[in-house]
Amino acid sequence: MTELAPPHAIKPRLESSVHFVVDVLWVKHWTDRLFSFAVSRPPSFRFRSGEFVMIGLPGEDGGKPILRAYSVASPHFADELEFFSIKVADGPLTSRLQKIEAGDQILLGKKPTGTLVLDAVKPGKRLFLIGTGTGLAPWLSVARDPEAYERFEQLIVCHTVREVKDLAYRDLFEGGIFADELVGDEARAKLAYYPTVTREPFKTPGRITDRILSGALFHDLGLARDRFDAVEDRVMLCGSMAMIKDTAAILEAQGLVEGSNAEPGDFVLERAFVG
Ligand code: A2P
Repeated sequence: MTELAPPHAIKPRLESSVHFVVDVLWVKHWTDRLFSFAVSRPPSFRFRSGEFVMIGLPGEDGGKPILRAYSVASPHFADELEFFSIKVADGPLTSRLQKIEAGDQILLGKKPTGTLVLDAVKPGKRLFLIGTGTGLAPWLSVARDPEAYERFEQLIVCHTVREVKDLAYRDLFEGGIFADELVGDEARAKLAYYPTVTREPFKTPGRITDRILSGALFHDLGLARDRFDAVEDRVMLCGSMAMIKDTAAILEAQGLVEGSNAEPGDFVLERAFVG
């Protein structure tokens, strides 16, 4: 087996018609399976909070670039673009991407897109942002966008992970965001963080699907009901395919209708791509 060169040893080819070459600004390793990083934002790069974009590295030995879809974790007006990724030991991209350091260069697609955007859900009272694992990424974007607080009276960020240490960004949602210049005050008044852990004891244990079906989610939020309300509640889903499928079925059974960019609805979904 040939040893793969670390990404910083590879000089990306020049920008192409499909991707920019951007500088890595910082990298944060949460666990041996999770990390975040940020890149510089090309002035012409525009996106809506909640959208995803292709991220990648040049191929080895002049091969084709390896690109994967990632939700942008920054709000649409941010100066830098943040991403939240898993590390897969034998993953074609993440085995190399996890080794990036500040000062390296990576590829950034030129066409962000996606359905986890405020425009794809109808007006409502409450927005549930439900994610598993790195499916938290788009909520980092939406929950840091003042527009989310203009449109909804309450935002609930639900994050389901296997172990407590996988609750990346817990500090942000439990405190850091309240000091945010733009959304701090709104977040303090309107944002609820609802982490759940499936493979270790925790104050709110189990899969989010089970906590929805038992009514625990609604009771914990102080809502006097044990199911979603198609008039008041809007939902976005991101994460494992299994979670999305199961949650979408629950939402439909409770009367919510899936939406899209073309036709806004009560809920929208997107799987977390690299996994
Ligand atoms: P579980 O530990 O019960 O499988 P993963 O690390 O595999 O991406 O999973 C992230 C989290 O998503 C885990 O806590 C996992 O729970 C949860 N999960 C997996 N499948 C489902 C599902 N169908 N519905 C709800 N949560 C799920």
